[in-house]
Amino acid sequence: MSVEHENLDLHPITALVTGATSGIGRAVAKRLAADGMSVVVAGRNAQRGAETVNEITAAGGHAWFVEADLEDAAGIDRLAGEVGEIDVLVNNAGQAIWAPTEEMKVSEYDAMFASNVRAPFFLVAAFAPAMAAKGSGAVINIGSMAGSLGLATGAAYGATKAALASLTRGWTAEYSGRGVRFNTVAPGPVYTRPEARDLFDALAETTAIKRAAEPEEIAEVVAFLVSPKAGYVTGATIAVDGGRTAI
Ligand SMILES: NC(=O)c1ccc[n+]([C@@H]2O[C@H](COP(=O)([O-])OP(=O)(O)OC[C@H]3O[C@@H](n4cnc5c(N)ncnc54)[C@H](OP(=O)(O)O)[C@@H]3O)[C@@H](O)[C@H]2O)c1
Repeated sequence: MSVEHENLDLHPITALVTGATSGIGRAVAKRLAADGMSVVVAGRNAQRGAETVNEITAAGGHAWFVEADLEDAAGIDRLAGEVGEIDVLVNNAGQAIWAPTEEMKVSEYDAMFASNVRAPFFLVAAFAPAMAAKGSGAVINIGSMAGSLGLATGAAYGATKAALASLTRGWTAEYSGRGVRFNTVAPGPVYTRPEARDLFDALAETTAIKRAAEPEEIAEVVAFLVSPKAGYVTGATIAVDGGRTAI
């Protein structure tokens, strides 16, 4: 909610969270629903999507699932058509493929850029004009500390996140004069996939705080940034990385 609606009963705020079937996206969806927003939970995995929706409704919130593969341009169009108008967009869906540069397959490189960069671009193209027309809206792009650090085996992934932060700045110039705020939230290591615990622990050691974040700690920042409390914050990259990019 950049989204200066005063009365949620008259106009429930709708937030679309991509990649809300797990990890950070699920935590964001739950947090925004707890703030009273109607949440569209988007992702590929219908079973995990239903889990997110059930957790939200069990807590008294409102959410529904839309299945969409965002690597596919047609999937983006379908999602936009099914969802209609929204007030808040959280471009969270993404993938990180870590590999030595000489081992990265073209298909992996293309898949990362399609989900991490192209999908947010065309989702903003689909939703931002209506936000601008009504004069309010908030978009959060989930970047990464990898977008501003050189990480071995993370060159391509980091490039997708640097591109996303750049898009945030471009969209700020394009839409913020018409009431739509854009910000990048750039997490450090976040405990999401249990199978990657070792990777997160190794990255956690490189932070100033010496631990990885819980997904809820990222969601808290997203919730602030889409709220009227952050009404003068746009075009920013907010590091939520335990101090990693400061040291
Ligand atoms: N975890 C970290 O340490 C960390 C740090 C910095 C930034 N990030 C960023 O945070 C975001 C969320 O990551 P996470 O750690 O929460 O990962 P995760 O648990 O693997 O979740 C990724 C989410 O993105 C969705 N997704 C991926 N590709 C998609 C596609 N082609 N179409 C639709 N949905 C797709 C997945 O949906 P399905 O499972 O339904 O397919 C899933 O819900 C990503 O952008 C990631 O780069 C994560």
